[in-house]
Amino acid sequence: MLADQATTAVPNDWDRRGLPAWTYTSEEMFEVEKEELFRSRWQLACHVNDVAEPGRYLCFDIAGERAVIIRGRDMQVRAVHNVCRHRGSRVVAAERGQCKAAIVCPFHAWSYNLDGTLRGAARPETLPDLDPVEWGLKPVEMEIWRGFVFIRFKPSEQPSIREIMARFDEEIAPYETETLLPAGDAFWSEALEVNWKAVRDVDNEGYHVPMAHPALQQLYGQHYYDEPFVGGTSRSFATFNESHGKLWSVRHYRSVLPEATWLPESHRKAWLYAGIFPNAVIGLYPDSVMFYQEIPVAVNRTILRGAVYRRPEESRKLKLARYLSGRIDAITSEEDQQLTIWSCEASNSSAFDGIMLSDLEYGVRTYHDELRAVMPVMNEAQAPAEGTLARRNAELLASRGS
Ligand SMILES: [Fe+2]
Repeated sequence: MLADQATTAVPNDWDRRGLPAWTYTSEEMFEVEKEELFRSRWQLACHVNDVAEPGRYLCFDIAGERAVIIRGRDMQVRAVHNVCRHRGSRVVAAERGQCKAAIVCPFHAWSYNLDGTLRGAARPETLPDLDPVEWGLKPVEMEIWRGFVFIRFKPSEQPSIREIMARFDEEIAPYETETLLPAGDAFWSEALEVNWKAVRDVDNEGYHVPMAHPALQQLYGQHYYDEPFVGGTSRSFATFNESHGKLWSVRHYRSVLPEATWLPESHRKAWLYAGIFPNAVIGLYPDSVMFYQEIPVAVNRTILRGAVYRRPEESRKLKLARYLSGRIDAITSEEDQQLTIWSCEASNSSAFDGIMLSDLEYGVRTYHDELRAVMPVMNEAQAPAEGTLARRNAELLASRGS
């Protein structure tokens, strides 16, 4: 957000001190987050074209849950739990792959049809009659929005992903995201020894772009702005600077990027980011579309996961532009990872006394507000006594509702 925009949007008395430090290290807080955020909110698993053919599958694990997204022989995409009904083994072992006619559990070879129904147990004469639907792989709630596959492990009162993303519907339509294809291997992932919120905190503000991200600054630093989190989404938008920049990747990107005639003029030389509470961002560029997210593994360990998608027909120049924007993104991500590690390490320092947010970091504050609305215990200056956090949070939620 630019300085003049920030001063009109930010109330005088807002809390500049962020979430209390204990919320980044508490095991009990992490358990509540898993339940209230990662099992009950929509998770962006992949794109429909990551599972383009029958039997093609992709696994998505989070907060102790395991899903498989798989395309059936009827060409329907489905999400099922990656939990064999026999003894609970994973039914597919690889992160991504291809099943032939059936999903065959690697433990005792129970097999399932590509629609998840039970096809047959090994040595069926040793078991009772098992109904194929009742004993099929359990379905996971799934919704496809503009080609992206979202899943949710726990039923929730939360709106559909279509409702959550409604503000982007018109803006994103010209990118024709439904038709995109995985770019090469598409997926990347990286593990960081930090709390997942520390990653979000770095990502939720552009105040650090001029100093920390020389490439982004040269690409769009003059025009970048963040809009705060509202109703589960945030929006950042940046049109390119007039000058082509000095850095190799930025200069070449600007000079090879062809006119993206399928986009309105306002978006042909711009990057758009759609933030989705609690842990995903879709980035839309003239040359490609990508997403990234945080997968919390432990209170102090997070996997960053992302994927890149290309247009089905790509000129040589568009392909080169995609390569260069990917390179700028990779540099930015590496720079952010270092900053995340440093700010997270600070909680061990005797000098660290909490944070002080600028008006330009209003995105961090509004994201924290969304967290506090779900988990009001995050307002407490000190961690609740051991063993009481979940109960304390439930009490606070109940008292707010009454
Ligand atoms: Fe950054």
